[in-house]
Amino acid sequence: MTWLITGGAGYIGAHVARAMLDAGEGAVVYDDLSTGIAERVPRDVPLEVGSTLDGERLARVIRGHGVTGVVHLAAKKQVGESVEQPLRYYRENVEGLRTLLGAVTDAGVPSFVFSSSAAVYGMPDVVLVTEDTPCAPMSPYGETKLAGEWLVRATGRATGLSTASLRYFNVAGAAAPALADTGVFNLVPMVFEKLTEGSAPRVFGADYPTPDGTCVRDYIHVVDLAEAHVATARRLREAPGTDLTLNIGRGEGVSVREMIDRITAHTGHTLSPVVVDRRPGDPARVVASADRAATELGWKARHGVDEMIASAWEGWMHHHPAR
Ligand code: WQD
Repeated sequence: MTWLITGGAGYIGAHVARAMLDAGEGAVVYDDLSTGIAERVPRDVPLEVGSTLDGERLARVIRGHGVTGVVHLAAKKQVGESVEQPLRYYRENVEGLRTLLGAVTDAGVPSFVFSSSAAVYGMPDVVLVTEDTPCAPMSPYGETKLAGEWLVRATGRATGLSTASLRYFNVAGAAAPALADTGVFNLVPMVFEKLTEGSAPRVFGADYPTPDGTCVRDYIHVVDLAEAHVATARRLREAPGTDLTLNIGRGEGVSVREMIDRITAHTGHTLSPVVVDRRPGDPARVVASADRAATELGWKARHGVDEMIASAWEGWMHHHPAR
């Protein structure tokens, strides 16, 4: 099989490309390099530079490489930016997906894996979020992911395309330093940035209704996440007509304070965190039930938080060598 991995030069996509190769699958990356980095794409994987808004180019690439399945990760993913630029997010994330699905169905490609997000749930008021927990996204970013799931499912029903939407929880870590996330938009890199600047990491609110007052999340190692894509891709191939929606998390909650403590312990930095105001829109607790992915895919996360922190820190130092 040859899997077209859109966004395969990005942080998660490059890990998916690598996992596909390691599993003996064929892969080709399609990325506009707006935030992707060409060097992240494994050497044995062809890189086609193009936009998901360019249906003709997509059709040529799908035909030219004999693509037999798609993993679609290419998207804008900053929640705050999506609030300021909703039109841009709907265009890239929904119109880009619609264009891609057009090319995929025209070419008769049978399998499609869509990169969704726990952001579809918004502020869930449950201990463990199942795939049946009602979706109520709190940002245009989350809306585009939910609308994307609908579009993918409707296309599957109408055309017989086998589909899966993977709802990622909080992704961290790296398979190798060069593959690490270079964006500083999430807790782990934001803490690294503060520590290397010599300033105190910030806790956005310590008055949440959680055991230590800070927000609780479900952190998942990007290597486990990438393996979940391989397992999903194989499942779609082996069971045509499939329509899956799966949480991809570990099912274990870790608080912001605990994450920061583990990061400072690992890096040897002794700066104590400071509590600042809540960040608007943050839910107190978002932790996955990972049962359905285990049942449907036989997949389970293998790596813990300390491995995420250690590999992310190596990556941070690789991309930010001390001056
Ligand atoms: C985690 C917790 C912060 C930085 C977002 C998107 C989600 C997905 C992943 C996209 C929160 C707290 C953070 C800091 C802090 N995105 N925090 N100090 O908000 O759970 O999820 O990223 O694909 O859709 O919503 O992740 O890493 O930003 O924050 O206290 O310096 O850490 O308030 O409670 P979040 P995050």
